Amino acid sequence: MEVLKRLDQLELLVVTGKGGVGKSTVSAALGALLANRGRTVLLLEVDPRENLHLLLDTPPSGGEIVEAASNLWLQHLEPRKLLDDLVREKLKVGALVRKILSSPVHRHFTEGCPGLKETAVFGRALRMVEGHGPKKLRKPDVVILDAPASGHGIAWMAAPRLVAEVISSGPIGHLATEITTFLEDRDRFGSVVVTTAEEMPIQETIELLEAMEQRLDRRPELVVVNALYPSAPKPRRSDDEATRLWARRRAVNEEELARLTSIWDGPLAEVALEPIDAGPTLVGVVGEQLALDLRRT
Ligand SMILES: Nc1ncnc2c1ncn2[C@@H]1O[C@H](COP(=O)(O)OP(=O)(O)OP(=O)(O)O)[C@@H](O)[C@H]1O
Ligand SMILES: [Mg+2]
Repeated sequence: MEVLKRLDQLELLVVTGKGGVGKSTVSAALGALLANRGRTVLLLEVDPRENLHLLLDTPPSGGEIVEAASNLWLQHLEPRKLLDDLVREKLKVGALVRKILSSPVHRHFTEGCPGLKETAVFGRALRMVEGHGPKKLRKPDVVILDAPASGHGIAWMAAPRLVAEVISSGPIGHLATEITTFLEDRDRFGSVVVTTAEEMPIQETIELLEAMEQRLDRRPELVVVNALYPSAPKPRRSDDEATRLWARRRAVNEEELARLTSIWDGPLAEVALEPIDAGPTLVGVVGEQLALDLRRT
């Protein structure tokens, strides 16, 4: 219950983890869970493949904020466009804006400068949290950011600080500092790390947890171990290949889960591998399992 209460209080939640472990599924499930608890939730997706709407059974957002269910909103963001919007917002003078946006220097700088796109995404999330959203959703209670799997998740969370250190003045420096302060606020910002109980994802999760502690002095609010094989029956000589494979995968899951819990004593939720295709039914089932586990923590 403690974790749910904690998640209920936060204004921005980043869902992070290695590629393909179930970040988008868990983001959608957590979003629906918090929306059902009465919070107004905005899910932000940055992945150019744009698939959160498929998981929630709504038309693509096309960059707009759309309502996927009661209290549950969704928006797809393009970092490139956010950076251009920032130039427009800060410079205001039309001719100057056009000149900068069409200049190759601006393109190269914004493409090449590490952390800038992440800062622009966090900047948008912060504006929403502060109540500067469009008329139809002026101020969500919580923004959930389904972060893309770009290297380690720490790169996302540490990006604004990196930018603030390099660019200390001007509109970008000011924004990066503002975001850095926000991300340090334990009452407002939190994270959820998603992993599967396989060797590489667990290894990366352990490294991510250590890096978060060392570089950000933070722990995630929750670790979700997703897509666990169900317990296998006792092995018998007559087992077919599929049953033996199932038992082996389950054994790997148990081994890797034990490796994780030997270094992580914080909140942990386990979600089963379901024989269901990507979509609203899977999101619903994952949400039920998360809710059950979180009520116990
Ligand atoms: N608990 C589960 N049971 C069965 N299938 C699952 C489960 N969780 C996720 N999946 C499936 O695994 C695939 C990857 O899930 P998802 O897209 O949520 O991962 P992701 O971490 O967001 O991936 P990416 O890094 O590519 O954005 C999808 O096909 C999804 O339907
Ligand atoms: Mg995804």
